[in-house]
Amino acid sequence: MGLKLESVVPWGRSLAEYIDMFSLSPADLQRQILDCAGGPASFNAEMTDRGYSVISCDPVYQFSVSEIEQRIQATYAPIVEGVRANCDRYVWQAIQSPDQLGEIRLRAMRRFLADFPMGLRSGRYVVDPLPTLSFCPGQFDLALCGHLLFTYSDQLSADFHLSAIQELCRVANEVRVFPILDISGEASPILPIVLEKLPQQGYQLEIKPVPYEFQRGGNQLLRILRKLN
Ligand SMILES: C[S@@+](CC[C@H](N)C(=O)[O-])C[C@H]1O[C@@H](n2cnc3c(N)ncnc32)[C@H](O)[C@@H]1O
Repeated sequence: MGLKLESVVPWGRSLAEYIDMFSLSPADLQRQILDCAGGPASFNAEMTDRGYSVISCDPVYQFSVSEIEQRIQATYAPIVEGVRANCDRYVWQAIQSPDQLGEIRLRAMRRFLADFPMGLRSGRYVVDPLPTLSFCPGQFDLALCGHLLFTYSDQLSADFHLSAIQELCRVANEVRVFPILDISGEASPILPIVLEKLPQQGYQLEIKPVPYEFQRGGNQLLRILRKLN
């Protein structure tokens, strides 16, 4: 796989943030969940600890704990400084400062690092990049994809987004994507294309408010239901 360690910028969120970002109900937590582009989030580790079922996939899982840890150390300060320089783009409520943001993210990423070797061995972390996944049709009840699609609208084409969402819908009965803004907090130019094209192919799409807003205006998810054959 062509991913270079120098291009990896690890940044992961916690279970509490996932619950709000994806509006996960207690019943949702009981479902078979795929966390696509899970990266160094602690969602899988924390869910597994509570007895729930999550598989995370991400190309970054091809690297070792020490390689990912090294990238966290190299990129952590520049990311926090980047947020500080653009602090008006964020809502400082639940998270009150760039330094607190850094602490929360580091805690989540350390939780991930502690779980990664065991989770890799047991198949909870899978090296699998969109737009083609190795999972079986309908293997999951729910697929989550956080901070990849729409976030990187400047790097990932509309065709990539369409193929990626179709693939997530192949492996899961329901897909939730958060956020639907790009990385600068602007409306994604790809969202209207997705909203136009996928219903033409029989998918059901819905934009829903969520009880999470860190990127200013980033308080909505896109829910997609698999077309019925
Ligand atoms: C900003 S992180 C988000 C981590 C986590 N979902 C969260 O919200 O905290 C974005 C992740 O997308 C992953 N990624 C990049 N290209 C991908 C692809 N083609 N398929 C799946 N994941 C990819 C990166 O490796 C990175 O871990």
